[in-house]
Amino acid sequence: MQTNDESISTLREAVKLSPDNVPLRIHLANLLQKLSLYEDAERELIITLALEPNNSTVKLALAETFYQLGKYSQSLVIVEDLLKLSSPPAKAFVLHARILLNDGQVQKAVKQYKTAVNLDNTVADSTLSERLGIDKDTNNAQVIDGKMRISNTNNSADEPLLDGQYEIERSKITFTDVGGMESVKEQIRLKIIYPITKPDIFKAYGKKMGGGILMYGPPGCGKTHIARALAGEINAGFIPVGINEVLDMWIGNSERNLHDLFETARHNIPCVLFFDEVDALAGSRREASQLATRPLINQFLMELDGINSSNEGVLILAATNSPWFLDPAFRRPGRFDRIIFVPPPDQKAREEILRLVLSGKPSENIDFSFLGRKTDNFSGADLKEAIERTIESKIQEAMSTGLPKPVLTKDIEQTLRQMKPTTSEWFSTARNYALYANDGGTYDELRKYLRV
Ligand SMILES: Nc1ncnc2c1ncn2[C@@H]1O[C@H](COP(=O)(O)OP(=O)(O)OP(=O)(O)O)[C@@H](O)[C@H]1O
Ligand SMILES: [Mg+2]
Repeated sequence: MQTNDESISTLREAVKLSPDNVPLRIHLANLLQKLSLYEDAERELIITLALEPNNSTVKLALAETFYQLGKYSQSLVIVEDLLKLSSPPAKAFVLHARILLNDGQVQKAVKQYKTAVNLDNTVADSTLSERLGIDKDTNNAQVIDGKMRISNTNNSADEPLLDGQYEIERSKITFTDVGGMESVKEQIRLKIIYPITKPDIFKAYGKKMGGGILMYGPPGCGKTHIARALAGEINAGFIPVGINEVLDMWIGNSERNLHDLFETARHNIPCVLFFDEVDALAGSRREASQLATRPLINQFLMELDGINSSNEGVLILAATNSPWFLDPAFRRPGRFDRIIFVPPPDQKAREEILRLVLSGKPSENIDFSFLGRKTDNFSGADLKEAIERTIESKIQEAMSTGLPKPVLTKDIEQTLRQMKPTTSEWFSTARNYALYANDGGTYDELRKYLRV
């Protein structure tokens, strides 16, 4: 067998003899790439491209070579060109993802990477997907909950709308998929659904629209869930935004990006804009970056106020576990002037949630009221976890017996015995704020719940 060096010199000789042979030149360039001789590959590919300016294989190889040489902007120019093709090669999306990632545009990068893998899963790259923070198992999941998520772009029927770099989800759930939370639902209806669906009534009373709802409460009790359900309920688009990610990924560019985000929503009304972990905007939490976040806070407030552009048709929701860290400026009238406590589900709500998460799964004679009583302080997420664990143990059982059996009340009860509700820790912190920092009655609902 020839060594690589020998192959290269043989190929070079061959190219000299037939300088117009494009496939031969591509072959040589590929070998050079493989040996990390990128400068040589670049030279080869530029000549080849001159021979066949529209050859997309050559373009892609050149873009990859530029990328390897750190010539990102040159690489990007070619990639953007390739992506304009009617069916761009999957590898072009992968390369685009890399370039975007280098530029700190993680969300956009994730989207391009997923498109690539959907087109051709052999281009999957575990190192890249790890850098992008994509969990292998949720690769095709619709939603990575609470995080900057990406919808499954493989689904042509309800392809997400694209606008700039933000993806607009189409929620498949509505309020009927939310157990309990009646008071939260009602407040959302009053404050943000009716102004859109029944504008006349609001106008008749001279009531101004605008402003958003801020939800707070222990983890796993349905804040994100209900925001998504709201979008489904009124058939609006849904844009979830994790503020921590906003801060991390948009360093230096945050204000403009935040503006673009609001603009995307404004161009796609009705649209639910959901800000998760909104307390991350509070300086006290990020002492080091306080100076850096101040302009972003101001931008955020300006967008909320809709000073330069109207927010009509944009439904703004935010959620936090730590409302006490939030800048008080957020809570002025017309901004998040409605702050709602989302408590753990009560007994009836727990029954409903258990019913919802168990629906479609094989079960028999479940005593929901019994289980509702047994799950004091459990969050919706805890209940979901309990059912999932139960199903897992049933599967395990079926594996050994070869006999799949439906879930029974006692199976769930057994799982519950090994679980603790996860909401208690939150309440021990929250209690102090409810007691000592309840200025303006912000935490009245929480106080009532805690009976303090
Ligand atoms: N009221 C509910 N009805 C149905 N499912 C629920 C309910 N509450 C929670 N769940 C389930 O629990 C999961 C976690 O809830 P969710 O993510 O909405 O909690 P959260 O309040 O946003 O928590 P965090 O503060 O950690 O962001 C949801 O995806 C949903 O499956
Ligand atoms: Mg959440």
